[in-house]
Amino acid sequence: MSDRMVPVCRTSDVPIRQGREFEVAGRAIAIWNVNGTFHATDAVCPHAEGPLTAGFVTGSVVTCPMHAWMFDVATGRAVRPAMAPNLVRYNVVIEGDQVFVRLPE
Ligand code: FES
Repeated sequence: MSDRMVPVCRTSDVPIRQGREFEVAGRAIAIWNVNGTFHATDAVCPHAEGPLTAGFVTGSVVTCPMHAWMFDVATGRAVRPAMAPNLVRYNVVIEGDQVFVRLPE
């Protein structure tokens, strides 16, 4: 399946150890800055639609501010509870200071 590269923000828009939410092609996508490495996932918690970018980030793990479910933003995998659904993860491309995500066509 092909995909397209969509510009989202500048690297300076996302402070280190934080995430920011952006509307991209009708999706709420979170861009995360994990010590200078950028990742992209769904921005909405799969539990009860909590705003993940308002959560606390430790390493690459964000804790949802609503009920403390935890996700690894580098992989999209649920950390706690383990049976929680994983986050959709998007590939990130950095060109200069521009952050792009690859979205399926
Ligand atoms: S909404 Fe995220 S843990 Fe409940």
